Amino acid sequence: MIYSLKDLELKNKRVLVRVDFNVPLDKDLKITDDRRIRASLPTIIYLLQKEAKVILMSHLGRPKGKVVEELRLTPVAKRLGELLNKKVLKLDDCIGKEVEEVVENMQPQDIVLLENLRFYKQETENDAEFSRQLANLGEIFVQDAFGSVHRAHSSTVGVAQLLPSACGFLLEKEIKFFQQILTTPHHPFVAILGGAKVSDKIGVIRNLLPKVDNLLIGGGMSYTFLKAKGVDVGDSRLELEKVEIASSLLKEGEGKIFLPSDHLIADKVAPTAQIKNTEGVEIPSGWLGVDIGKRSIERFKKILKEAKTIVWNGPLGIFEIPAFAQGTKEIAEFIAELDCLKVIGGGDTAAAIACFGLEDKMSHISTGGGASLEYLEGKELPGIAVLERR
Ligand code: 3PG
Repeated sequence: MIYSLKDLELKNKRVLVRVDFNVPLDKDLKITDDRRIRASLPTIIYLLQKEAKVILMSHLGRPKGKVVEELRLTPVAKRLGELLNKKVLKLDDCIGKEVEEVVENMQPQDIVLLENLRFYKQETENDAEFSRQLANLGEIFVQDAFGSVHRAHSSTVGVAQLLPSACGFLLEKEIKFFQQILTTPHHPFVAILGGAKVSDKIGVIRNLLPKVDNLLIGGGMSYTFLKAKGVDVGDSRLELEKVEIASSLLKEGEGKIFLPSDHLIADKVAPTAQIKNTEGVEIPSGWLGVDIGKRSIERFKKILKEAKTIVWNGPLGIFEIPAFAQGTKEIAEFIAELDCLKVIGGGDTAAAIACFGLEDKMSHISTGGGASLEYLEGKELPGIAVLERR
C-alpha cells in the first residue's frame, strides 16, 4: 500500500518533496518547456493550503557531482514563483548548515527550493550519509517526481527509507493511468511505438505484445523491422545487430504488428532535403525514410478508429523538421478526436503533442521519459517500490 498526501497530517510540518524539475533550458537559461513545473503544482498548492512548510528538491541535467553554473535551479524557482504568484526561496546548496538554518526558521506556507541535487555525486550513488542529511531537513517525504522514480538515488529511495513517505498527486495520476493500461485496458487496445531505436523499445514490445490487440510501429525503428522481413530500406537508419531480435519479435507478434507499407523519403536529413512518397514498401538506395507514408497513415487510422485504449510512445518520423512531421501530426490529430483512453509516453512524444497544440485532447501525457518506458516494460520502479514498502 502507498500512502497518499491526503492520508497525512500536514499542518506546520516540514514536508520534503521530490519533484522532477529537469526542464529544458536554452543558451540564455530560459526554460523552453515548463510542463514538468506546471505538473507539480497540484501537490505544492495542496501542501500550502494545508499550511505545511514546503521544501522542494530536484535534479537538473547531469552535472555528475560538480557545481555547473548553467545547471543551477534559479530559473526554475523564478518560474515556479510566477506560476504560484508567491515567493519561492531558492537556496544555493541542498545540504549543510546554512540550508538547515533556513529550513529551521521556515513558517507554514513558506516554499524553499534546494539547489540541484546532482551537484553531489552522492545523490546518484544513493549514499547513506547524503540521504540522511536530506532526510533531516523534513519530517515527511512526498515523492512526486514521476520522471525520476526509475532511478535508485538518495532523493528517490534513500530519503524514503528514512521518513514517513507518501505519493504526491502527479505520481498518483501517472500510476493510475499506467496501471489501467497494463492491467485493465479496454479492448481493442492499440499501442503505437516509434522513435529512433529498436534497442530502446525491445522490453516495451515484449511486455505489451501479450496485452495489446494491435501494435503499430513507425519512426526510425521501423526500418530495422522491415529489414528483418527482407525489405530493402535504402540508406535508412538501421540497427543491424538488432535485425535478428526484430525478426523474432515479428514472429511473436504475428497478426498483431503493423509496419509502415510506404514512406516519406528524403535524400538527406535536413529541412532543405528533396522528399517524395514511395510507391511501395521498398526504399531506393541514396534515399532514407524520414516519416511514415500516406497509405500507412490511412492504414494506422483505420486500426486506431476502433480502439478503446491507445498508448503511444515514440514519434513516427523526424517531426522536429516540419517537412517530416506529417505522419506524427496526422496520427496525433486523429487520436485527439477519438473518444477512448489515450495515454502518451513522455519525452519526444509529449514534446510532439505539445508542438501540435493537442495536449488538452489526450487523457494523460506522462511527464516521464525513461520512467514511462520502464513502466511500460513492466519493470519495478525503485522510487515507487520504496513507497509501497513503507
Ligand atoms: C528525465 O528527464 O527523464 C528525468 O528527469 C530523469 O533524468 P535522468 O535520465 O538524467 O536520470
